[in-house]
Amino acid sequence: MSTTFPDGFLWGGGTAANQLEGAYDAGGKGPSIQDVMPRGIAAPPTDEPTPDNLKLVGIDHYHRYAEDIALFAEMGFTVYRFSIAWSRIFPNGDEETPNEEGLAFYDRLLDELEKHGIEPLVTISHYETPLHLAKTYNGWVDRRMIGFYERYARTLFERFGSRVKYWLTFNEINSVLHAPLMSGGIWTPKEQLSEADLYQAIHHELVASASATKIAKEINPAIQVGCMILAMPIYPLTPDPADVLKVMQADHGNLAFSDVHVRGAYPGYFLRTLRDKGIELDITDADRETLTNTVDFVSFSYYMSICEAASGGEVGQGNIMGGIKNPKLPASEWGWQIDPVGLRIVLNQFWDRWGKPLFIVENGLGAKDELVEVDGVPTVEDDYRIAYLNDHLVQVREAIADGVELMGYTWWGPIDVVSASTAQMSKRYGFVYVDRNDDGSGTLARYRKKSFGWYRELIASNGATLS
Ligand code: BG6
Repeated sequence: MSTTFPDGFLWGGGTAANQLEGAYDAGGKGPSIQDVMPRGIAAPPTDEPTPDNLKLVGIDHYHRYAEDIALFAEMGFTVYRFSIAWSRIFPNGDEETPNEEGLAFYDRLLDELEKHGIEPLVTISHYETPLHLAKTYNGWVDRRMIGFYERYARTLFERFGSRVKYWLTFNEINSVLHAPLMSGGIWTPKEQLSEADLYQAIHHELVASASATKIAKEINPAIQVGCMILAMPIYPLTPDPADVLKVMQADHGNLAFSDVHVRGAYPGYFLRTLRDKGIELDITDADRETLTNTVDFVSFSYYMSICEAASGGEVGQGNIMGGIKNPKLPASEWGWQIDPVGLRIVLNQFWDRWGKPLFIVENGLGAKDELVEVDGVPTVEDDYRIAYLNDHLVQVREAIADGVELMGYTWWGPIDVVSASTAQMSKRYGFVYVDRNDDGSGTLARYRKKSFGWYRELIASNGATLS
């Protein structure tokens, strides 16, 4: 058996606080935007948290984290990506001092990871802006958000910076273009939001991200900070140069964020977009200086690819941004088109473009699972998930052979969590099944799926068991 995965390659899984912790008002936590998004991005938010919002209980990880981390350890994880709920640390977001109970929870979680020798990878902000910041300041549209985020990030680096080496500033920062509330805490409904406000919000997030990188290094130079984008290779629907040009422009929309994170300045094509739209951003000299604090590595999520065309084409379902359907590819039960080769393509594209170490921090298949009994033990025979994982990792192996420098791979939702886009429980990604249903019923018991053992063997062999 041979493997091209380097020694020390980090294997594991990733989650986000709002999708699994539950305990939405425990330990002094304030409400976050997710507590009023019972349908994810599929419907407008509610005024108050409502009992039909599955995220209020999640999978009760807040109380069961030790059991869950033990399951990750059993699979042999060497890394675990999780996010810190901003409103556990600053319940409203604009306080001067943090909530000690919130910080103490993450100390306990880190203790558990250390016990099992699992490296933490922490997302500072994963779609869970404190609700107060969204309602009072309109989220990232307001420049004051930079200061609130800096205080939050500083608090985390001071408290956990000696225990956590790898940090991500914002989850899928480029998704703010498509999901302004979930990604940018922007309370104005998308259809009423001006492009000028949206681009100003993007600028504030980029400055805050760069500022956090600077603060991290001042506190502990050993800290490694990464950016995180939603990666989606875009193919021209036809060889028509007009379609290819459209692809280039769509790529610019997605990649501008990491161009700034990696290069420390806005690319020319981005400035042209602003000029064409007649937008004059408020960018200070101090902002420009801050942006020069560039990231150490680039991380991304990868679920699917899409097509683009200058005109026409059947629009398909997709991860937050969507696009035109590719007639050559199959799709998941939620219409996300499955494209393992696309992962090799983005890995090469990103490595060629930025020359920074890469980290795949999300990849996975949301599917309906059926709980069955095998030898009297509840399980799920999820061969479809194993096939998805195998086929994607074969392409990762190819990309490494192509010369791409890759730090690690964290499967999305190694334990079933509430979906971000639809807020369903039935859209499951896990290697561990959680007994909870869309109507909120269920015991919350955890069961190992067939993929659990498959992933354990894969990690133990450092990728050599791929077929
Ligand atoms: C990513 C998000 O876009 O996709 C995760 O970072 C999310 O939070 C994941 O859960 C899968 O999407 P969904 O909508 O199926 O949960």
